[in-house]
Amino acid sequence: MSDKILYSLTGLFDTPDEIIAAAEKVQSEGYTKYDVNTPYPVHGMDSAMKLPMSRLPYVAMVVGITGMFLALFFMWWTNSVDYPLVIGGKPYFAFPAYVPIMFEVTVLSASIATVVTMIAIVFKFPNNSHPLMDTEYMKNVSVDKYGISIAADDPKFDFDKVKSLLESLGAKNITPIYYKEEDLNFKPKTFEPKFVIAMIVLFAAVSAVTYITLNKLMYLPPFDWMMEQSKVIAQERSDVFEDGRGMRTPVEGTVARGFLPYKFKNNPEAAGKYLVNPLAATEENLSLGEKKFDIYCSPCHGYLAEGDSRLKGQFPSPPSLHSKKVRNWSDGRIYHVITEGQNAMPSYAYQLSRKERWAVVLYIRALQRSLNAKESDLQ
Ligand code: HEC
Repeated sequence: MSDKILYSLTGLFDTPDEIIAAAEKVQSEGYTKYDVNTPYPVHGMDSAMKLPMSRLPYVAMVVGITGMFLALFFMWWTNSVDYPLVIGGKPYFAFPAYVPIMFEVTVLSASIATVVTMIAIVFKFPNNSHPLMDTEYMKNVSVDKYGISIAADDPKFDFDKVKSLLESLGAKNITPIYYKEEDLNFKPKTFEPKFVIAMIVLFAAVSAVTYITLNKLMYLPPFDWMMEQSKVIAQERSDVFEDGRGMRTPVEGTVARGFLPYKFKNNPEAAGKYLVNPLAATEENLSLGEKKFDIYCSPCHGYLAEGDSRLKGQFPSPPSLHSKKVRNWSDGRIYHVITEGQNAMPSYAYQLSRKERWAVVLYIRALQRSLNAKESDLQ
């Protein structure tokens, strides 16, 4: 057993104001190796002790930025290089879609790195011993006292001077703290080879048992939870086809449900000639047409289809739909413009179903009739 060594001289105070004053005084006396222990973080202590900024934020910044670029690289590599897939019509490198994930990976890596650095480097994990631990002093400052501890290896340390300084500050229970040589050389047992080997064996055993349970024991046919089925699931390879792919592109000419091909592509004349409006001018169809026209057409064509765009010149104003030309067009010819678009006007085939397009045509007819009423309409 070696002799006890002096670690520090400690004093206790009753109020946060006293401990702040004490810290300021000790700091201004030129002591550098002292610390303050309080039951909770005391506001203003950093400036009283003139503590420099922690270096942890640098770790957070460097690892956070690294994480951000790793996330970006990973998404670019998977989506643009390794497995390019068109998703929602976006380009392979769809940066805006990556921003939330980059943000999350930044926060995740920065926070994990900060905590790990704090525990492993700042707290010197796994060394968890400190001379102040298990002392009366520590028990007091963990409950309702505010303590200061001036370390004996401070260059200015002089037992009697420090003692009278603490007394002059009004400290109570001024106590020296001792520790033993062997406490200082505390070697954690955690990383002994035996322990490491035991951890590896345990890890391998748990993995093996989990693997066998999940893949062999639980899925013994016929109780295989329908995991094995004689069909090709998405992304699975298949030996039936020469190229080994399970997923096939549709046979040429395949028509997907609900996607009837439009027969009059680039052929407005034929559309005008052969397409007939299947809808009757009922109140229901007209009000459907009005609703859709007001939503999709009126921004450019105006509510009355007179070409009075509400877009204030941000888009070329269309001609009036009350022109002789459009009035003489067949329903199919107007339907064709909605379906395919015309020059500056885009196609509305994706926004409007076929029925809705025909309803819009009916509504345009009603508008035209209202502005060009015939004598007979009044009778
Ligand atoms: C973004 C603005 C815009 C919207 C929305 C829009 N159009 Fe047009 N439309 C135009 C422009 C511009 C033209 C003239 C195109 C040209 O120069 O040939 C036009 C032309 C037309 C024509 C042919 C007129 C002619 O004299 O050649 C019809 C019919 C028509 N639109 C109907 C519609 C219907 C029905 C809708 C709603 C489904 C609609 N438009 C929505 C901008 C628009």
